[in-house]
Amino acid sequence: MTVIGLSNQQENFPRHVAIVMDGNGRWAQKQGCSRLEGHRRGVHNVRTIVENCIKLNLPYLTLFAFSSENWRRPKQEVTWLMRLLDGALEREVQTLHSNGVRLRFIGDISALAAGIQHKIDLAEELTRNNSKLHLTVALNYGGQWDITQAFRSILHRVQEGVICSDDISQQLISEHLSTAELPEPDLFIRTGGEQRMSNFLLWQLAYTELYFTNINWPDFDAGEFALAIESFASRERRFGGAERDTVNVETADA
Ligand code: IPE
Ligand code: IPE
Ligand code: MG
Repeated sequence: MTVIGLSNQQENFPRHVAIVMDGNGRWAQKQGCSRLEGHRRGVHNVRTIVENCIKLNLPYLTLFAFSSENWRRPKQEVTWLMRLLDGALEREVQTLHSNGVRLRFIGDISALAAGIQHKIDLAEELTRNNSKLHLTVALNYGGQWDITQAFRSILHRVQEGVICSDDISQQLISEHLSTAELPEPDLFIRTGGEQRMSNFLLWQLAYTELYFTNINWPDFDAGEFALAIESFASRERRFGGAERDTVNVETADA
């Protein structure tokens, strides 16, 4: 299936899509190759989906690349994932920049190797004035970490006397999360068949539409992405309000 017929002009087109790119290991197992090869194919697929977002004029894409819990994996796998990340930063940033992509990284970056941190800083700096696609990569990220660091930073401001406890609002908390500059995600996609958040954007996903697919990340192509967007487009978001078709009836009764 192609993306023909999908248009970001349509009413229910998502502005911000957040993806848990899961299933690299299972993809590899099915193909009879190593998990490491699965991750390599997974990185390759990031390019496919990023290009697709640019084509679709979708302005915000956030990708879960490495969770704060992924350090629990065998050392060899973690080393390989970090090497892939390093290589991708080396190879892809210039092209992303030429395509108008603004890169952001969220998560506890300070725990990553100094060389990677440096490449991250350069990539963010180089692309900071781009706005065609806001691509955010979550690295050593956990939703609980994010809320904790926001809490610390707010407490610090209270202690300094810049704000008082009455100033703490949902808005203020959002402004202290690592996603402060991004709109809330409209659509959450998780590939690989698991139906859980795995500590992704816990606060930010409060009213996000959820989409789970059994397709493993390396196989999640433009057609599969279009299916997710079509599913989103067919839904009615209520944000706690009443169903659209019933509103008139209730108003008439009142
Ligand atoms: C997702 O694929 C990639 C990362 C978490 C870095 P997995 O490696 O989790 O793949 P499965 O879940 O074992 O198939
Ligand atoms: C979530 O996948 C993290 C990323 C895709 C980066 P995991 O494979 O780590 O999640 P669990 O362990 O199945 O919950
Ligand atoms: Mg997994």
